[in-house]
Amino acid sequence: MNPNKALWEKGDFTRIAQSMRRSGEALVAGLGITPGMKVLDLGCGDGTTALPEAQLGADVLGVDIAANLVEAGNRRAAEAGLANLSFQEGDASNLEGIADNSFDLVVSIFGAMFAPRPFDVAKEMVRVTRPGGRIVMGNWIPGDPTLVAQILKTSAAYSPPPPEGFISPMTWGVEANVNERFVAAGVPVGNLSFARETYTFEYPQPPAALLDAFRTFYGPTMNAFEAAGANGRAGELQDELEALFKGQNQSADKGITAIPATFLKVTVVVA
Ligand SMILES: C[S@@+](CC[C@H](N)C(=O)[O-])C[C@H]1O[C@@H](n2cnc3c(N)ncnc32)[C@H](O)[C@@H]1O
Repeated sequence: MNPNKALWEKGDFTRIAQSMRRSGEALVAGLGITPGMKVLDLGCGDGTTALPEAQLGADVLGVDIAANLVEAGNRRAAEAGLANLSFQEGDASNLEGIADNSFDLVVSIFGAMFAPRPFDVAKEMVRVTRPGGRIVMGNWIPGDPTLVAQILKTSAAYSPPPPEGFISPMTWGVEANVNERFVAAGVPVGNLSFARETYTFEYPQPPAALLDAFRTFYGPTMNAFEAAGANGRAGELQDELEALFKGQNQSADKGITAIPATFLKVTVVVA
């Protein structure tokens, strides 16, 4: 079994995605989507950004490595009556079956960053985008003090070392790495631009309940708790993450959660 696929099928990202819907809609509203535009949403999960893209009239294909999330996305598209949106399984490192120059816009929000072989990922995203089209990525930033970078850092500290040759997904949050990958894929460096933006995790319960959702449904955190448990350190990990979630909650009503997290927004104009 592909370990990348296994990691994301292990949990149920739909349970986390529920806390990200409003920020997803806001991000999509700024993408300049017009009716009939052809959009690929890569590492789409259950469609947090793909649904609003389709609601703006784009023809949207969602591609994700996790079969359970593809199924959830297709269910959500049907429930929303969106005939212009479909989801299929695929790997951002190898988009075989998708023709060159197929899309006006490729969007990947915290998606393709998790695929192995980042140089192949950049090459594939460029290949399927038409000349003059755009790629927009959202990537978490290593060392950033906000929620997701800290969850991933803490989770890694309790997990066994990754296999030899593993390239951390967080390297997609470093501008120099992103430049290098897209330049290698044939994009002039001047066609890349970067901005720091915010996603807010909103949950109708206290921060500890959102942490429970991560512990139960988010593959990287599930693995960290398994590894920590095997070393008798699950309590320590729980305390560390609980302090993080509580400390970052900006909601005036402490019975609910609103945690902002900073990410790197990458825009690439394909030559
Ligand atoms: C953090 S979730 C984000 C999902 C979605 N973009 C969103 O904003 O809700 C990461 C997603 O990337 C997908 N993913 C991980 N590796 C992938 C790969 N190699 N190819 C395609 N999708 C991948 C996972 O299955 C998961 O749905």
